[in-house]
Amino acid sequence: MNPISIAFHSYKGGTGKTTIACNFAAQLARKGNQVGLVDLDIYAPSIQTYFEIEPKKWLNNYLNSSSDLSDVIVDGSQFVKSGKINPGDYNPKGKSTNTDGGNLWLGFSNPSSEEVLQLETTGTSTAREILKKLILLKEKMLTDLRLDYLIIDTSPGIRTWSINALAISDILLLTLKSGDIDSKGTKRLVEDIYDTFTRHGSKSYLLYNRVHGYCMPPKDFLGANNNKSNPSYKEGISGLAKENPLKAGREPKLSQELGIKTISSIPCFCDIQFSEKEFLTVLNYPEHPFSYYVNELIAGIGSA
Ligand SMILES: Nc1ncnc2c1ncn2[C@@H]1O[C@H](COP(=O)(O)OP(=O)(O)O)[C@@H](O)[C@H]1O
Ligand SMILES: [Mg+2]
Repeated sequence: MNPISIAFHSYKGGTGKTTIACNFAAQLARKGNQVGLVDLDIYAPSIQTYFEIEPKKWLNNYLNSSSDLSDVIVDGSQFVKSGKINPGDYNPKGKSTNTDGGNLWLGFSNPSSEEVLQLETTGTSTAREILKKLILLKEKMLTDLRLDYLIIDTSPGIRTWSINALAISDILLLTLKSGDIDSKGTKRLVEDIYDTFTRHGSKSYLLYNRVHGYCMPPKDFLGANNNKSNPSYKEGISGLAKENPLKAGREPKLSQELGIKTISSIPCFCDIQFSEKEFLTVLNYPEHPFSYYVNELIAGIGSA
């Protein structure tokens, strides 16, 4: 299989790009793939919250030319295996800690406002330079780490960083929330940007997330200690539907209007939405219906 790069993008923020990108990447690695996940949402980076790590170096150091790429990429394979990264697992020089299966390589973006501003104003400030850096990032990660998949989390909208992230992607997943279905902005984004990339060989899909209709796990879903051995957990899981109204019935109207297929429609799950802390559902609760939808998305990409 040729390696593929996949961007999670949206018109507005808060559609679930980061949540799905992180779960999708971790699940691909669990299934034995070589996976890279990079946070190119440089304005509001957040993948580090899912992997509970404060890296020593960030993608910013690569993008502003103060470090080599190999010094900023973190081996997260152990996290996929055991749910945590120990300081010793930080392994920037390309020897994986997970020998029996897939690997997950992570590139974090620095959330400090000074660092965000610095990327905007100095160093890689022109669009062409940014694009050159990103093309090199892709080529190096695909080749040096022998990736099967490069997953890219992006900033919403049409700023330079977002467009350049899309430019290095083979598959563009335009993520929408239920309420965005008729958004004019989304239509404009597709007509102005996506159509151009599609003409040059990328594939685009709509990805609906937080679709209404299913929610409300039982009150005591995980119990007081967030414990999945709580008896009501199994009961709760079986109460969460795996059937989806958008999938079962009509292709969403917007999909028809834009001529872009819908690759998946993921319901909104209250336990994910109202959790105090972000977590990787596919690792913590593999039997959760959200994990089922992530698997479905993986299958969809496989046949894309
Ligand atoms: N399918 C879902 N069901 C419930 N909550 C979700 C779902 N997908 C994402 N969320 C929640 O929505 C919020 C925004 O998601 P996030 O991934 O940060 O969006 P984005 O990266 O597009 O800004 C987060 O609190 C996340 O936990
Ligand atoms: Mg995000």
